[in-house]
Amino acid sequence: MAADLIVYNIGTLVTGKELEKKFFEDMENIEVLTNGYLAIKDGKIIGVGEGEFPKELKSETTKLIDAEGKVVTPGIVDSHTHLIHYGSRENELPLKIKGVPYLEILKQGGGILSTVRNTRKATEKQLFDKAFEVLNRMAKFGVTTVESKSGYGLNLETEIKQLEVNKLLDEKHPLDIVSTFLGAHAVPEEYSTNKTGYIEEIIKMLKIVKEKNLAEFCDIFCEDSVFDVEESRYILNEAKKEGFDLRIHADEIVSLGGAELAGELMTVSAEHLMAVSDKGIEELAKNNVIANILPATSFNLGKSYAPVRKMINKGVTVALSTDYNPGSCPCENIQLVMNIASAQIKMTPLEIIKATTINGAKVVKREKEIGSLEIGKKADFVVYDVDNLNYIFYNIGINHVNDVFKNGKQIVKDKELCY
Ligand code: NIG
Ligand code: FE
Repeated sequence: MAADLIVYNIGTLVTGKELEKKFFEDMENIEVLTNGYLAIKDGKIIGVGEGEFPKELKSETTKLIDAEGKVVTPGIVDSHTHLIHYGSRENELPLKIKGVPYLEILKQGGGILSTVRNTRKATEKQLFDKAFEVLNRMAKFGVTTVESKSGYGLNLETEIKQLEVNKLLDEKHPLDIVSTFLGAHAVPEEYSTNKTGYIEEIIKMLKIVKEKNLAEFCDIFCEDSVFDVEESRYILNEAKKEGFDLRIHADEIVSLGGAELAGELMTVSAEHLMAVSDKGIEELAKNNVIANILPATSFNLGKSYAPVRKMINKGVTVALSTDYNPGSCPCENIQLVMNIASAQIKMTPLEIIKATTINGAKVVKREKEIGSLEIGKKADFVVYDVDNLNYIFYNIGINHVNDVFKNGKQIVKDKELCY
């Protein structure tokens, strides 16, 4: 079968295909080819290997691209973002610098609640346009799939509005969007003295969101003075009954037992985990819950990093994402996340590539379609303007992505959008 496109002379081709682990804790077990090629037809990979590509892959109409010895990896999966929101919160910066804690700003009606006020007022078009621009920037950093949560509506009308925007973006933007319902992100002002009332409201919303087929995942902010472990258990169990896959913001700021709950409910992932307990790590490992780590949030809040090495040593699957949101992490730059993971968490280049590709794909339950460059999978891949993998993590703070392909179509060429 002849290809539509062949990319050849790839100096380092990280296919991301998972190899058998040499050691229990091995997170570097992905395939790396040298002098590789990739062949694509109808948006899917039909050939991948080392050396010269087989002649039968090429016909008269096949387009050939010489990668000139550069590095190619699978497209990045940013598996935790709060993409859909309106307004910004730079007014909180002086407070943050003076040391006012994140949860204190929220308690005073700022933080998430301030974004809720703006998002409720915004039109669908305003939300769409703002998110569209962000997706363009993410694409330039090599991202090809994005998970996107609601959670700045905290009422039916605005939560649905946010999720409708997810759907529209998935249709109109080249990147794929995976939609998550996060009605349990905070207790809205109108329910400030009646949290139970809001929890019942969330249960009603779950049904409607599922009926309208607007989200695959249900998430919750399990945190001190937001939703405690018991409330989180109740809401997530109800979500499961409605057919949602589960995920949870767990032990982000206070060690509350969110990771233990994730293990008990066998959620797909547990997110943040900066304050996870040893028992929590054991539960994640035992129940195959993916630890989705968001180091740019630690960096921005000036908090400690999640104990990633400890988790890897216990056999926990680790993913990395931006957590892009207007409060704790107004950052859509996954390469900054990758740089922080290297310099501060001491993850190796291959561990980081794995955490942002195939493990990110597992977080959004798309590992059969994306996350690695294997025959039959989507041709989502990134060409870095470097001749070895280490360089990406060595020369920090700049964008090393040169070209991005989504479903076999080039969407970034020489660092600029081209779709
Ligand atoms: O993942 N922690 C809860 N949600 C976001 C922050 C949202 C916001 O501050 O607007 C997070 O950090
Ligand atoms: Fe988050």
